[in-house]
Amino acid sequence: MPKQKLQWITDELSSLKAQGLFTNIRTLESPQGARITVNGESKLNFCSNNYLGLANDPRLKKAAQDAIERWGVGPGAVRTIAGTMSFHTELEERLAKFKGAEATISFQSGFTANLATIPALVGKGDLIFSDALNHASIIDGCRLSRAKIIPYKHNDVDDLRRVVAENSPFNKALLVTDGVFSMDGDIAPLDKLVEVAEEHGLIFMVDDAHGEGVMGHGGRGIVDHFGLHGRVDVEIGTLSKAFGVVGGYVAGARAIVDWLRQRGRPFLFSSAVTPADVAACLAAVDILENSTELVDKLWENGRYFKAHLQGMGFDIGMSQTPITPVMLGEATVAQKMSQRLFEEGVFATAIGFPTVPRGKARIRVMLSAAHTKTDLDEGLQIFERVGKELNII
Ligand SMILES: Cc1ncc(COP(=O)(O)O)c(C=O)c1O
Repeated sequence: MPKQKLQWITDELSSLKAQGLFTNIRTLESPQGARITVNGESKLNFCSNNYLGLANDPRLKKAAQDAIERWGVGPGAVRTIAGTMSFHTELEERLAKFKGAEATISFQSGFTANLATIPALVGKGDLIFSDALNHASIIDGCRLSRAKIIPYKHNDVDDLRRVVAENSPFNKALLVTDGVFSMDGDIAPLDKLVEVAEEHGLIFMVDDAHGEGVMGHGGRGIVDHFGLHGRVDVEIGTLSKAFGVVGGYVAGARAIVDWLRQRGRPFLFSSAVTPADVAACLAAVDILENSTELVDKLWENGRYFKAHLQGMGFDIGMSQTPITPVMLGEATVAQKMSQRLFEEGVFATAIGFPTVPRGKARIRVMLSAAHTKTDLDEGLQIFERVGKELNII
């Protein structure tokens, strides 16, 4: 009977609710921005990855509208079969120039970029050395590849050296890490990791989802931040965060990009993003190439907010970027805090297992260039009030 067949799901959902791990998805009645509307009420928004405030930028919207007029609304089918619009190719060329990479290939999302790339580079019999806190899309890409996955302790180069030595000799191996870790806001030691990769002939791959538009000169990413152009084989990028739109891409050596056009399964078997998305991304590249203003503002906001939260006594973990985790421990506490913040006018979601390890639940504050100083001060006052009420500070 179907009802009995699915009873386990109902039980699991009830269990998630009891543990404070059930995600309630808020419905927004406004575009993404520093403030959003929920249930008819304006809330300060500390939840989006819209780092530069581009998701509702008039220049991107105009570009998208014009593109619909010229190119229509859909790509037709997968690019290898229906042909590729010159527009998609133009975006890839512009992104390569922006990143200082030989070539790029675009995907539907950062997630699919990881799923495409890892299985195309390594397979059965190969090894993957993977940071223990890598993003789910890296983990899934690793699993799909059927290579042996060997985790090393988070950001611990000595531990990486240990596992590489323990597993030597090997045939082909990949070293993969997030650039900026999305839940803690800390940065991978790319300058040290690249040395290990070069010493042992590892293919070196960095997921720059949270470094794109944030790190490096004018947001050119983490490889630019460390000055490692040409030494990191593969960079995964997303157009869904700082770029304010949707999509993903891989930047790297032309040979790798050419290979992904032949063997990247989400490229071969799933349609590309729409012309409106491409146009908006091109407008975002224009903005980033012309000025560092938004990136500078994001960092200024990050420094200001973090310093004040710390001053109040909140534990903000090991963040080195505008991503600001407010560490709370138990998932139920994080959910309670998120609920109270919301009632007071701040949208800041609680994050618990499986997104972060059990017992490390937190509120993750995502700052943006769109926030004004007034927004930040208002948010800080509410954090202080609710933190005291719940005996967190
Ligand atoms: C490190 C990392 N990689 C990839 C992704 C997926 O990006 P997208 O939303 O473009 O699929 C995310 C999104 O949270 C991420 O944090």
